[in-house]
Amino acid sequence: MSDYMFVLESHLDASQNRAVEEMKRIATEAGMNVWLAGGSLRDVLRGAAIRDLDFTVERDALKAGKALAAALGGRVVSEDALKRGIELELPGNTAASVSNARTEKYSRPGGKPQIAPATIHEDLLRRDFTINAMALALNRGSRGLLIDPGNGQADLLGKELRATNPYIFFDDPARIFRLIRFEHALGFQLAPRLRSQLENAMIEGYFAGAPATALACEIKALALDASAVPALEAYERMGLLKAISPALAGAKLNSAGLAKFEKLLHTVLPPGTPGGWLAFLSILTEKLSARERAEALKPFDLPKAEADGLKQLEASGKKLESTLKSARVTRPSHVYEALAGISTDVVLMVLYTSAQRVVQDRIRAYYQKYLGQAQEITEEQVVATGVKPGTPKFDKALKTMVAAHLNARPRKVPPPEPEVVPAPPMINGRPGRKPAQSNA
Ligand code: CTP
Repeated sequence: MSDYMFVLESHLDASQNRAVEEMKRIATEAGMNVWLAGGSLRDVLRGAAIRDLDFTVERDALKAGKALAAALGGRVVSEDALKRGIELELPGNTAASVSNARTEKYSRPGGKPQIAPATIHEDLLRRDFTINAMALALNRGSRGLLIDPGNGQADLLGKELRATNPYIFFDDPARIFRLIRFEHALGFQLAPRLRSQLENAMIEGYFAGAPATALACEIKALALDASAVPALEAYERMGLLKAISPALAGAKLNSAGLAKFEKLLHTVLPPGTPGGWLAFLSILTEKLSARERAEALKPFDLPKAEADGLKQLEASGKKLESTLKSARVTRPSHVYEALAGISTDVVLMVLYTSAQRVVQDRIRAYYQKYLGQAQEITEEQVVATGVKPGTPKFDKALKTMVAAHLNARPRKVPPPEPEVVPAPPMINGRPGRKPAQSNA
């Protein structure tokens, strides 16, 4: 049997491990049980990168979540008082959610549920798919115990999606969108019974009862996946895109533009580079008139900072493009300085729109060479020059050292010594056969 705590610890990055440790401490002090559940456990068990940490607790999730954010210097992104769940942003680009173990009872598709506290088993069985319905105990008494009432582990191995119960789409029609997303992102098959559940849900038109904002969240969740375009095309074939906004559906779906965007995102940028969602959104709505665009963007309910960023994307991209092609950019450090600190969305828009070869090449060189080389200059090296960290002098010294490092010509590697081949022995005054090699 696997040691799941070891699997977990070795799989998470330092910030995620810190969050797990802190959550264990908070739960122990409050005398309550805590589990890692949902997508984070699914991804740990299938050996994939984790997007966010999903904790489930027995008692006050909102209080536990706030304590976690406070202890780690993070912030609360949103709170759901009804479902008693809280979303957090923690340092180190770590997203986490804390929710209460609960049951949810619905009287109509996508309606407001009746919530009741529940055991972890009951909580897991009200979830969507068996692969998302496992939990790992983090409590002192049962630490490392895997709870898997639907045998999600077998479905992970068999690459199959299976519902935890017959009502998953009635309870939450947005799960139809999740299903298509997982099918494409994971490359899993639908179990036959889940396929008929999906067909019934489509015939009954459950998705019409789902709020457009919940559906738009699913578009955001798939935006940066390598399988985004096939998943969007599947939504379109199933008539689901118009449930988010009619402006996005039919011929207006910019599949070709998004395929180009996805290719750039996954070939030019190093894996895990944060950002890119606004560039995706801009290209998704590229073919729309200003009025249609405004209409299509409504369900996405963008926070003000994102809405402003989206509006400025084109102008910021033009500015970056003209900097990168300027005659003043002659050295690697100039390219590095032009791109360091620029948002991924702006860079992606320039890659997507610019016809200038030099601009494309410079962006590629930045990600593939300069970014890594710049990180070779350590804080200790800068401190050794006699400046104090956190001061403007330190920033200036760092900038100068990075520039010198980037602009230094690579040292020539000496060519290998020519191999000395022994002359063949002379036989009767003429070169004989090469001596046979001995392995002794
Ligand atoms: N969940 C569910 N129904 C939904 C959304 C979520 O049953 N409509 C449950 C699933 O168990 C899911 C967990 O809540 O795994 C956490 O949800 P979320 O973080 O939204 O999704 P993940 O499954 O973690 O996947 P991803 O991060 O890829 O969206």
